[in-house]
Amino acid sequence: MQVVRTIADCRSAVKSYRKAGETLGLVPTMGFLHAGHMELVAAAKARADRVAVTIFVNPTQFGEAADLDSYPRDEARDLAMLREAGVDLVLIPEVIDVYPDGDETIVETTRMANILHGEVRPGHFRGVTTVVARLFNFVQPDFAAFGEKDYQQLQIIKRMTRDLAFPIDIIGVPIVREADGLAMSSRNVRLGAEDRKAALVLSRSLDAVEALDDKSVEALRKTISNTINAEPRATLRGLDIVEAESLAELSGPLTSPAAIMLSAEFGGVLLLDQRVITP
Ligand code: PAF
Repeated sequence: MQVVRTIADCRSAVKSYRKAGETLGLVPTMGFLHAGHMELVAAAKARADRVAVTIFVNPTQFGEAADLDSYPRDEARDLAMLREAGVDLVLIPEVIDVYPDGDETIVETTRMANILHGEVRPGHFRGVTTVVARLFNFVQPDFAAFGEKDYQQLQIIKRMTRDLAFPIDIIGVPIVREADGLAMSSRNVRLGAEDRKAALVLSRSLDAVEALDDKSVEALRKTISNTINAEPRATLRGLDIVEAESLAELSGPLTSPAAIMLSAEFGGVLLLDQRVITP
């Protein structure tokens, strides 16, 4: 596994793959890797001859400087995990190379970045698209893999890639679940035994809507909120039902795939889940 820290070294590694006629998949990360990231790596490995991973804690997607400073980092552990997974190339760029002095350029999906989670985290998705566009340009992969767990981020990156005509396929990798259905998250370890059990209500509420004959947005919303509100340890924090690609708000009977984006708190731990439902 080659670890590079400059754009020039990254490009020269990629050039050698291209010379050999090899395909390249990219997994962008902010490091401190967990099972979800390794699933993205596995999905990329299954599709390409070579896999590159970027590790970059992107300052422009953090609202508060304190959040950026306290973001966990463990480069040695990350590299050991990536080596073990058979990754070919890791780019760990410097902030000054990603955002050179005098940098003025931003990339933003003007509507999608500012709705749903973007409403409560102003500037966050603008930071994500700005860095992902740059990483795409540094690495120039054939495809890049992102988790469906961050559903809004995935759709925004798909839209940006289409709008800017990057010749890169965007692969959405499904949520990894525990055997009992709980979406994997680094936050799950903070759940007490009772809250861990109660948290299964999230995937149960999504299963319940699949079984509905009436798949109107109103029926989906009622089924999910009733299921979650019936669990005393759960506090429903967010329930958005939106058009699966554009993330536009929906109402009435479903006529196209809809994404349900769900968040609820269990003993102070906020958990997310998500599912795309077809009419
Ligand atoms: O999902 C993440 O880890 C980040 O938002 C990403 C896509 C690596 C951009 O910094």
